[in-house]
Amino acid sequence: MSILIKNGRVVTVAEDTIADIYIEGETVVAVGKNLDYKADKVIDAAGMLVFPGGIDPHVHLSMPFMGTFSSDTYETGTRAALFGGTTTVIDFVLQTQGKSLKHALTDWQSRATGTALGDYSFHMAVTDFNEDTKAEIKQMVEEEGITSFKTFMAYKGALMIDDRQMVGLMKEVKKQGGMVTAHATNGDLIDFLVAKHRAEGKLSPLYHYLSQPEVSEAEASNRFAQLAHYTGCPAYIVHLTCEGALNAVRDMGKENYQVFAETCIQYLILDASLYEKDFEGAKWVMSPPLREKKDQDALWAGINQGLLQIVATDHCPFMWEQKLMGKDDFSKIPNGHPAIENRFELLYSEGVAKGKISLNKFVEVSSTNAAKIFGMFPRKGTIAVGGDADIVIFDPKAKHKLSAETHHMNVDYSGYEGWEVEGKVKTVLLRGKVAIDDNECKVEKGNGQFIKRKKVGNHF
Ligand code: URP
Ligand code: ZN
Ligand code: ZN
Repeated sequence: MSILIKNGRVVTVAEDTIADIYIEGETVVAVGKNLDYKADKVIDAAGMLVFPGGIDPHVHLSMPFMGTFSSDTYETGTRAALFGGTTTVIDFVLQTQGKSLKHALTDWQSRATGTALGDYSFHMAVTDFNEDTKAEIKQMVEEEGITSFKTFMAYKGALMIDDRQMVGLMKEVKKQGGMVTAHATNGDLIDFLVAKHRAEGKLSPLYHYLSQPEVSEAEASNRFAQLAHYTGCPAYIVHLTCEGALNAVRDMGKENYQVFAETCIQYLILDASLYEKDFEGAKWVMSPPLREKKDQDALWAGINQGLLQIVATDHCPFMWEQKLMGKDDFSKIPNGHPAIENRFELLYSEGVAKGKISLNKFVEVSSTNAAKIFGMFPRKGTIAVGGDADIVIFDPKAKHKLSAETHHMNVDYSGYEGWEVEGKVKTVLLRGKVAIDDNECKVEKGNGQFIKRKKVGNHF
């Protein structure tokens, strides 16, 4: 099957030009003006923006967490991602303490294989670093194509590792050519504050927020960055939310070391006032929590200064009934919110359309940098000859409203109900196949492929 996309405004990190794209099978064969190929299908993209498919490197699909499972499966989650212009996601395999990495991987593979509609890859979350785990790192990198290793510096008693394990892991991951990533908040401080608030009978969602002050994230981000510098291990902070943590990343530059960092769409556009809505605030109970307006300003600046390379989602949806598990105690509300379908359009609308970021920066932080940092570039993350034909045709003039009534995520509310969005995903191609066209999904479950990733090198 061949496809010719005509006359779109093709935007990559380096280019912004009216051009045609010719695709054969799964691959881009030519990009240029007035291409003269006979194709099986011609798509007229005049007046449209044409972007590389979005990459969301932080999602949790069917994740066992806080006594339940996140409500999007690989089928519903990757379908929703495609509707929202995201063609590849990276999910987190969670090691069970006392069990092997391989054991967890097999579990995640059984949920994803034959189920996903969009392409996906895995990070490996190491929750129990010991001599046995250490021996598995090489196998993950060399054989499984899993080159990033997630750590939790919080969720004490469940997922958290201590600094001794962190240093051991960093040394081994560096040796094997991988990267360590962190949920960088101070688990002991948070644990202390959660216990204090519960003892005082302060049990509403607002106290989730007040149990994770900015210092809990700034301190852990600094500690993680310093340990990375000390070990020389490539490092990446997930879901960075606030000015203090951003400054920890910024300060590493003064020590001539780079720590990569992502923020998520919600931290750029939502703020902590939502926790004042009584239990409705549970919709936005996530960790770290939403922050202040001054943090939003810092994050937008951090994107433009290149300190934050990626805007992800940390998509981790729970049905309202699941959120009600914490009706009488904020510490029992499953942490997470849905955004996999909304990220690309919200970032365009709030970022590009409102003049906060350029079109090229949009492509960089929604797609290209994730492909580079996580070892999928240039196969993914750009529109270039030889790369996968993962392409979003985007109507910049179409205005619409976000709602749980129209979204495709398996969750019965929206964190962005009634939000007015400028710009809409029109057509999505995944590896040369039309996956979404005018609000219709054209691919079936099982269409998604697992993407093995390269070692971390100088590809950023
Ligand atoms: O609240 C969140 N972020 N839930 C998902 C797990 C994590 O910490 O990323
Ligand atoms: Zn996290
Ligand atoms: Zn997460």
